[in-house]
Amino acid sequence: MIFRQLYEPLSSTYTYLLGDEQTGQALLIDPVITGMERDLAEIHRLGLKLAYTIETHIHADHITAALELKRMVGSRIAAPAHDHLPCADVGVEEGKPLSIGGITLQPLHTPGHTDGHFAYLLNERIFTGDALMIDGCGRTDFQNGDADALYKSVREKLFVLPDETLVYPGHDYNKRFVSTIAQEKARNPRLGGDKTLEEFKHIMANLNLPYPKFIDYAVPGNRQCGVCPPDLPENLENYCRQITQSPQG
Ligand code: FE2
Repeated sequence: MIFRQLYEPLSSTYTYLLGDEQTGQALLIDPVITGMERDLAEIHRLGLKLAYTIETHIHADHITAALELKRMVGSRIAAPAHDHLPCADVGVEEGKPLSIGGITLQPLHTPGHTDGHFAYLLNERIFTGDALMIDGCGRTDFQNGDADALYKSVREKLFVLPDETLVYPGHDYNKRFVSTIAQEKARNPRLGGDKTLEEFKHIMANLNLPYPKFIDYAVPGNRQCGVCPPDLPENLENYCRQITQSPQG
């Protein structure tokens, strides 16, 4: 299997490229519209064809590249069925594996950051989206976020995986790339060790995070599988710049 961890700096998002050498098919987990040209170039450089894009959840901090990639190369859009997106070709559900060639992802419903959030298990790797990050987790104060649900998701769906499972998060803001289930169980300051649900809820209720500056554009855009809003203020244009300045138009 071909594996690449690709980084989008504006939202500190990790996009994961998985490629099957036998069939030449590839999939992207959480592609970002501003990193799309780079991701496609990498896929083509590797001699692969993009078959699917797969979302962990409806993102609030960037626009997904799913729809643009579908238009450009015909990839199919997989997104959590829970969110009922009319633009999705495949509704992701737990117990319904997603396969391309010899690669099979097991979707795990992990609500809490959003109610429709999924993590994807691929053998010794787990792509955790914003449910579990390295020494952290996604916020729970928007998009039907729920600290109770996130605690349960992480403790009962992710921390039960084998210790050596590699944790690939949806974001990292400190240039870290990968962790393991054992490491997060041991030292995640919010969810690891003997942290109780009450302690976790207290931590999440007192993060004092600012209102997400792109959320009012990103969520409606991503409910359409990745549409850049036409009314984007000048200070947020970077979030869609690659499309408007792309040499392909
Ligand atoms: Fe998120």
